Amino acid sequence: MIEQNHILVLNGPNLSRLGKREPGVYGSRTLMDINSSLAAVFPKIGFQFVQSEYEGKLIEALFQAEDQPEMKGTVLNAGALTHYSIALRDAIKAISKPVVEVHLSNIYAREEFRRKSVISEVCLGVISGFGEEGYHFAVEALLSNLSE
Ligand code: DQA
Repeated sequence: MIEQNHILVLNGPNLSRLGKREPGVYGSRTLMDINSSLAAVFPKIGFQFVQSEYEGKLIEALFQAEDQPEMKGTVLNAGALTHYSIALRDAIKAISKPVVEVHLSNIYAREEFRRKSVISEVCLGVISGFGEEGYHFAVEALLSNLSE
């Protein structure tokens, strides 16, 4: 049997409101649109899509992915938790599977408080400012990392 790669796509607080939330900053596509486009563009990947407003749920999802052998890595948009969640940073550090940090907006071109990410150092890399396409780039990055 050919082994299928599985990837967790994890979205944090307020990303459930995409489409309605500040469309000038985050675009008009909903999270469901973004997730569907990932599934369409990468038909061979088994995606698990999780969104939560709660820090602990995101941490639990990371640990579950870590414990599932078929799960190869995570694409994470942690929302505002990016800027202050040491708990999320510690969770990423506690697992061995790669996490790619994604932001729809360019966090370095916005308010000062968004320019600092406490998770970047423990992620494989960061993709910021490319909107929905950033999620696709993040999957490509994970796949390329897997094949190394
Ligand atoms: C975001 C950027 C964060 O600063 C913000 O709190 C979000 C979304 C982005 O995708 O651009 O909720 O992660």
